[in-house]
Amino acid sequence: MTYLLALDQGTSSSRSIVFDAGGGIVAMAQRELPQHYPQPGWVEHDALRIWDDQLATAREAIAKAGIQAKDIAALGITNQRETAVVWNRKTGQPIHRAIVWQDRRGEPLCAQLREQGHAGLVQDRTGLLVDSYFSGTKVRWLLDNVPGARDQAQRGELAFGTIDSWLLWQLTGGQSHVTDVTNASRTMLFDVHRNEWDDGLLDLLQVPASMMPKVLPSSADYGRTVESLLGAPVRIGGVAGDQQSALFGQACFREGMAKNTYGTGCFLLMHTGGKFQKSANGLVTTSAAQTSTQPQFALEGSVFVGGAVVQWLRDGLNAIESSAQIESLAASVPDAGGVMLVPAFTGLGAPYWKPDARGTITGLTRGSNLGHVARAALESIAYQSAALFQAMARDAQAAGAASVSELRVDGGACVNNLLMQFQADLLGIPVVRPKVVETTALGAAYLAGLAAGVYRSPDDLQAQWQVERRFEPAMPRDRAQECMARWDHAVRQATLA
Ligand code: G3P
Repeated sequence: MTYLLALDQGTSSSRSIVFDAGGGIVAMAQRELPQHYPQPGWVEHDALRIWDDQLATAREAIAKAGIQAKDIAALGITNQRETAVVWNRKTGQPIHRAIVWQDRRGEPLCAQLREQGHAGLVQDRTGLLVDSYFSGTKVRWLLDNVPGARDQAQRGELAFGTIDSWLLWQLTGGQSHVTDVTNASRTMLFDVHRNEWDDGLLDLLQVPASMMPKVLPSSADYGRTVESLLGAPVRIGGVAGDQQSALFGQACFREGMAKNTYGTGCFLLMHTGGKFQKSANGLVTTSAAQTSTQPQFALEGSVFVGGAVVQWLRDGLNAIESSAQIESLAASVPDAGGVMLVPAFTGLGAPYWKPDARGTITGLTRGSNLGHVARAALESIAYQSAALFQAMARDAQAAGAASVSELRVDGGACVNNLLMQFQADLLGIPVVRPKVVETTALGAAYLAGLAAGVYRSPDDLQAQWQVERRFEPAMPRDRAQECMARWDHAVRQATLA
């Protein structure tokens, strides 16, 4: 038997999954990751804890699978993106906790960069908007605020990496300081056309080039794990940021293929092939997973509060005891009865970009009950995703590109049938749920398997991807348009609040 091991280091947990070559899950292990909030708007992770947990889950998954490290053809890494770690090359010690993608401390510098008129340059080179979401201003903050850091960096003593680089450094015993193109494309420092760090942007953000990792395609030779870690050296063949990895795991390899991941937030990505397509509708352009040095791109939009609205119903409103109960509560009413819930708890992301928006419930009547609110909460996940999808469709149309014919779905909340049906109804295209919904980890395993020769080409993976259920749109289009118009109205209320 051939096995592949995926390390999936996410925002809230570190997981490892052993797959067989057919893409089936053999064993899985997981550990929750503590979050640190030193100030409002700041979010940090302990990088050493991430490494310890990740290694522990890898060992546990291998043991649970009843195999040995020598049975693993290759290992792939996928990770929360943008989160920045800076460590000392000699000691291997981080100079500070990792600054997490959700952290907003770089915002004043971003505002300054936008005011100085750098947004166009940043979008042209990196595909991104100037925002503290991306790694660039996080590294700059570390260099400016950790005593002695800038001097050490000038002397070449410090290394920067996103979580993939940090794990690679540890797995190879400090031999490899590398990253892949998808993670590099989230830093605001990377020229996605040339697949190289951009000297102009490094200068602009005052980040020394000597700190930056070498950049490889997502499927490549990343070295081998140190023998003592897993019991035998394991080849590392795949690395990709979690959303691009999910796109790959969904076998979306070509222009016009799209996936949406329903997690705490939602991430909608559409492959645009070799075309760098700039968004005029509030989306970002990002590197898609690459199996060669040939650039590949995707358009991406993210919803800040997706599945997290269900947690709010559970923990904030005490309306349900477990997240799974939302489906039956929402199904206790035939529809939301005109109630709209906009979960703008932390502002609204793409395509609205309204940081000051706040959560709002509209359309309440004397007949509204908790069932309607639960249904509206669930529907808000679909509405926000549909708004992203519409923005993507407008961008695709402007570029004369093919329109998306189906949406592939994954992530925790995609098991909710009511939500998936409503999503198909709003979009007017089928929503397709695959048999293996662990597509983030699967993508990394596939990228590793390609590098190790387990698969000949992505065509093998295409053949392996299987549908579990297809949700066909059932709502008349004029009714769906009415629903979207009412959603837009509710969003305007949230923006005024
Ligand atoms: O861009 C942030 C994203 O990569 C985080 O994903 O699944 O760890 O919340 P997740």
